[in-house]
Amino acid sequence: MKNIRTALAGLLVASLATSCNQATKTDTTAAATTNSAAPPDTAALAKKPDWWKETVVYQLYPRSFQDSNGDGVGDLRGIISRLDYLKSLGVGSVWLNPIYTSPNDDNGYDISDYRQIQPEFGTMADFDELLRGLHARGIKLIMDVVVNHSSDEHPWFKSARASRTSPYRDYYYWWPAEKGTPPARFSTFDVQHNAWQYDAPTKSYYLHYFSKKQPDLNWTNPKVRQEVYSMMRFWADKGIDGFRMDAFQFVAKDPTFPPMPGLTAQNFVNAYNHGPHLHDYLREMNREVFSKYNLMTVAEGAGRNPQDAMLFVDPARKELDMTYHFDAVGIGNKQGKYQLSELKNVFTKWEQEFATKGWQSIYLGSHDQPRIVSRFGDDRPAFRVPSAKLLTTFLLSMHGTPYCYFGDELGMTNIRFSSIADYRDVAARNGYELVKSQGGSLPDYLASLKIFSRDNSRTPFQWNTAANAGFTTGTPWLQVNPNYTTINETAQNQDPNSILNHFRRAIAMRKQHKVLVYGQYQLLDAANPTIYAYTRTLGQEKALVVLNFSAEARSWALPAGLTLAGPPWLNNYPTLAATASLALQPWQAVVVPIR
Ligand code: NOJ
Ligand code: CA
Repeated sequence: MKNIRTALAGLLVASLATSCNQATKTDTTAAATTNSAAPPDTAALAKKPDWWKETVVYQLYPRSFQDSNGDGVGDLRGIISRLDYLKSLGVGSVWLNPIYTSPNDDNGYDISDYRQIQPEFGTMADFDELLRGLHARGIKLIMDVVVNHSSDEHPWFKSARASRTSPYRDYYYWWPAEKGTPPARFSTFDVQHNAWQYDAPTKSYYLHYFSKKQPDLNWTNPKVRQEVYSMMRFWADKGIDGFRMDAFQFVAKDPTFPPMPGLTAQNFVNAYNHGPHLHDYLREMNREVFSKYNLMTVAEGAGRNPQDAMLFVDPARKELDMTYHFDAVGIGNKQGKYQLSELKNVFTKWEQEFATKGWQSIYLGSHDQPRIVSRFGDDRPAFRVPSAKLLTTFLLSMHGTPYCYFGDELGMTNIRFSSIADYRDVAARNGYELVKSQGGSLPDYLASLKIFSRDNSRTPFQWNTAANAGFTTGTPWLQVNPNYTTINETAQNQDPNSILNHFRRAIAMRKQHKVLVYGQYQLLDAANPTIYAYTRTLGQEKALVVLNFSAEARSWALPAGLTLAGPPWLNNYPTLAATASLALQPWQAVVVPIR
């Protein structure tokens, strides 16, 4: 079992969460009790709002959204054909996972040309049309930037590996074999967890924190940094609106590679995520790129704790606008079970640090995580709809920019493949090889993948009841979840009570009530094991959010001095029975104005 856990922890990006969570767990109880920060300065906010604080981000996984040419792979023309759907959601921004040329070892997170579109996704003309189409609908575009590493098929790496005297040699990290075996470094996708790959042509090892087809770029080399900034300006000049910086907390390394004894799947994130000059690089990037445009910037990873995260986003430091942490997606046990108190503690603790300064990302799902209704809700038929709506209500009523992952607006669920042959993700497949080579239990590993695999959330979007859910007329690159016959966009679009229409109402509510964007967050009834309740306050405007995270009806007593000031702004049931208590239905979620 230990082997399975190690493989899983190392090979699923969900593991990043676990590690960060470990490091920050200690002070969560205190955090869950109060929030004493001063209310934000409303006048200042009204004067010059930052658009990225008021936006709702829709993360769109291009491979799986809409195929336009029957090759089974989603593409840019497919997205173009669905622009009106995006508009109908009310989202303000779309974040596209990487669409650059890539051999696809890690579905585009291994880039071989940063300035070209992946041919299976389309052409640069398609990209330009997509950008125009989004902008015409008032939607901004955020691009993924993957510069901790490139592909091993990038011309830089091809040249670098060919000769020790290549002009591109120092674009990567090398350890010459005559110095012996390099000091151990952990790789999350490697079949042996070994971040050093021996490369025969130059008798040297190269570093790869992810798969061996993702060699790490050498950020100590100013030429590498200038290449990256120039590439970012290329996209910014095209008029895109922001960057999501992949694995950026890992870019800074000590090029002497001192020994790091005791490095494991559990602690590598915190061992790697604050290398020398990390913040110098970000300030340089800000000067060279961000300061010249009106961009939103968000880094994947936030250091070891909320205080580290503030270093990335404190406006006075001129680095980034936001980061996102893994504490929430990392809670719970290996069966995916969690206590609501863990979720409350995480969000409340982070809110304390960010109550008056900096800005947070709010998310529960992504292409690296399982489906949110399967992970944090209850995807059994009786509860899938209310629990998916509850999670939407939560994301859209918290303090920070919400990131909503495509398909969650339909309550799409984990697919739970039973055979390794069904998986496409390098993490799942290499993890399987690792467990096998270590003689671990493959059935246990497969059981874990059903809960945590990234492929659970990468299955094609479910548009309708046609073959392959209307995603493709060909063979989809990853199987469509068979439940598309009942869970699909067309059916939900027609149903006013669907998860989809609840999602639209939640976004409209957030747009209408700025208290939900800027208002101070105050946790109520911290010890309640099934109800997550909090208030949001901005000047005179106040809202109460009450979320019943359980499959049972619950009564929740209104705190003394708190009075409902009108009907709910949002409710996932037709009615709300309210006297001195709220009588909540299973997974009921309400946002109510209060005095
Ligand atoms: C984080 C991305 O979100 C994930 O999908 C990818 O595998 C790694 N970074 C490596 O780029
Ligand atoms: Ca296609």
